[in-house]
Amino acid sequence: MPEPIYDFTDTVVLVTGAGRGIGFAIARDFARFGATIFLNDIDSARASRAAGELIKLGYDAFAAPGDVAHPDDVAWIFKHIDEKAGRIDVLVNNAGVEPVSSILDHSLEDWQRTLEVNLTAAFLCTQQAGRRMKAQGRGSIINIASIAGKSQPLYLRSAYAASKAGLVGFTKEAAREFAAYGVRVNAVCPGVIVTPMTEHLRNNPEQMARWRAEIPLGRLGQPEEVSGLCLWLASDAASYVTGAAWHVDGGKNMA
Ligand SMILES: NC(=O)c1ccc[n+]([C@@H]2O[C@H](COP(=O)([O-])OP(=O)(O)OC[C@H]3O[C@@H](n4cnc5c(N)ncnc54)[C@H](O)[C@@H]3O)[C@@H](O)[C@H]2O)c1
Repeated sequence: MPEPIYDFTDTVVLVTGAGRGIGFAIARDFARFGATIFLNDIDSARASRAAGELIKLGYDAFAAPGDVAHPDDVAWIFKHIDEKAGRIDVLVNNAGVEPVSSILDHSLEDWQRTLEVNLTAAFLCTQQAGRRMKAQGRGSIINIASIAGKSQPLYLRSAYAASKAGLVGFTKEAAREFAAYGVRVNAVCPGVIVTPMTEHLRNNPEQMARWRAEIPLGRLGQPEEVSGLCLWLASDAASYVTGAAWHVDGGKNMA
């Protein structure tokens, strides 16, 4: 048997929006390498199902339901982690929503909700995790942004792009501020990944053909290809890496 690539034993990880899609893959893959994992989702049944799946595989997993855009829910989630695990080593801010609308038709409510879930939630969780990581003198925070927030304008996704660009900026600020505490902060910017969020795109053959033609690797990404980058960023192999925004997009954006 070859040695496992990573060792996350005695490592406590919170992944937000982990009930399905990219978040679930990240949670499962940290658990696979020994982490104690807390799976958050606004859909509490989904969070429980996802945690149950990992527990069935023999992993150390807990559901941590709640709306991460809401300060009271975030406070409860971290209290739950304090009680069950007593520390937090890795925070993955993954929960996100992607409304599709022209700027002219965008409702203010949808605009604000998108900023709250995709950006404010990361601030709230970073504040809670950051206080604990500062006391521990160590930690890693990974923000799941998007190519939309770094280098690739999408279409009809103004609130989404604005929130993800904000998240990339927040990542760099947090990296500067938290470096003194031994806490690294990075952003991951996926291209199009096969999850429920992109189902509408995948059901549109014309759009799919256009995307595929523009992706050098010639295909969409899988959730575990995003989690692979997250595992590396959280590991000691990335001990000199902070404040960066990483594409994981099949080569679509090479800047
Ligand atoms: N799928 C892609 O192609 C893609 C590309 C770039 C970036 N991303 C980003 O990756 C992240 C995950 O995307 P996905 O494709 O897995 O999405 P998804 O819709 O499949 O899953 C997102 C999960 O987040 C949960 N969630 C939503 N709002 C929440 C809240 N306020 N509090 C807690 N949980 C909440 C949902 O219930 C859902 O289970 C998002 O931030 C998304 O913007 C995805």
